[in-house]
Amino acid sequence: MLLKITILPGDGIGPEVTEQAVLVLQSVAEVFGHQLRLQHKNIGGAALAAVNDPLPPDTLQACLSSSAALLGAVGSPAYDHYPNHLRPEAGLLRLRRELGAYANLRPAICFPALEDCSPLRADLIRGTDIMFVRELLGGLYFGEPRSIEGPPGSRVATNTMTYGEQAIERIARVAFDLATKRKQRVLSVDKANVLECSRLWREVVTRCAKDYPSVHLSHMYVDSAAMSLVQRPKDFDVVLTENMFGDILSDQAGGVVGSLGLLASASIGGPVGVYEPVHGSAPDIAGKGIANPLGAILSVALLLRHSFQLEGEAACIENAVAEVLNTGARTVDLLRNNQKATTTSEMGCRVVDLVNESASTAKQNSA
Ligand code: IPM
Ligand code: MG
Repeated sequence: MLLKITILPGDGIGPEVTEQAVLVLQSVAEVFGHQLRLQHKNIGGAALAAVNDPLPPDTLQACLSSSAALLGAVGSPAYDHYPNHLRPEAGLLRLRRELGAYANLRPAICFPALEDCSPLRADLIRGTDIMFVRELLGGLYFGEPRSIEGPPGSRVATNTMTYGEQAIERIARVAFDLATKRKQRVLSVDKANVLECSRLWREVVTRCAKDYPSVHLSHMYVDSAAMSLVQRPKDFDVVLTENMFGDILSDQAGGVVGSLGLLASASIGGPVGVYEPVHGSAPDIAGKGIANPLGAILSVALLLRHSFQLEGEAACIENAVAEVLNTGARTVDLLRNNQKATTTSEMGCRVVDLVNESASTAKQNSA
C-alpha cells in the first residue's frame, strides 16, 4: 500500500519525538511491504518563525493531499503575548477545523510494566483501559462571539460555548460505534445541572443510544467524573465528552496511567486524520533528548489503524511498545528510584528493534 503522510514536527519536544515516531513508521512500512511517501511541513511556532503564520497554506495543502498527518506538538512561550490568531495553538485548531476532524480519540491504558509509575496504588489502576471520545470542533474552543473588550482596568473577556444537535449526534455515534467493539459501555460526561449545552448534549446522546441497544449508556457530571477517574479508573470504558472537558480529563488520565508522555491521539471524522501525542511541546525539556517518544510512536499505530485500516501493523507497534516497557526501558518521566533513564532516541531504537524482531519471528513461524 502507498502511505502518503504529512509530518508536522512543530515545537518544543515535537521534533524529537516525531523523529522517533517516523523511524518506527519506516520500519513497520518496510516489514509489512508498504511504500511511504512523507513530506515534512511547518506548523505552530516553527511556522510563525518562518512565515509569520501558524498554519501556512502549503502546510494545509500538503495535509489535504495526504491520507494522514502526524503531528509532534505546538506551543512556545515566545508567543505567549501574541494575539490569539498569531499563537502556535491557533495553527493546530485551524488544522483540525480545516480537516473536519471532529472526533478526538484518546486511549489511556495502564501498561502492566508501568503499574508502579502511577501515583495511584497498583491495584487501583491495574487493567485500566479507557477510550476518551472528545468532541473536537465545538464548544468554547470555537464558539462566537469571543473577545477581550473595554478600557484598561475594566476590560471584559467573552467566550461562548455552543453545541448544535448535529454536532452532538455525530460525536455520540463515534462513541457508540467504538463501544460495540469494546465492553459495550459509554459514559457521557457533561455539566447538565448548570449548562444548557450539557442539557442538550444529554438529551441528544440519550436519543442516539436507542440505535445501539447492546450498549449501556450512563451519564456523569464532569466534576464527579474527575473524582471517579482517580478513585476507580478501571470502571471507565468509553468516555464521551465535549471539547474542553475532554481536554482536561484526558490529561488527568495521563497522570493516572503513569505519564502524559504515553498518551496518543487520533483526530478523525474528516477526509484526512491528524495523529498526535496528547502531551504538549514541553519547552522546559526540549532539545535535551529526554522526552518520552511513546505517545508519538503510539500515535503512528492509531494512524495506521484509523486512516489505513492496517490493524496488524498497528498492533505490531503497540506490542513492541508494551515489550520495550517490559524490558525495563524508562524515559525520565517514568523513572522510579535507582533506575537508569532511557533517552528519547534509545527508546525509539528499541521499539524499532522489536518491530523488526517480530517480523523475523513471524517469517520463521510461517516458514
Ligand atoms: C490538546 C492540546 C490542545 C487542545 C492545544 C495545544 C490547543 O492541549 O491537544 O489536548 O487544547 O486541544
Ligand atoms: Mg490538552
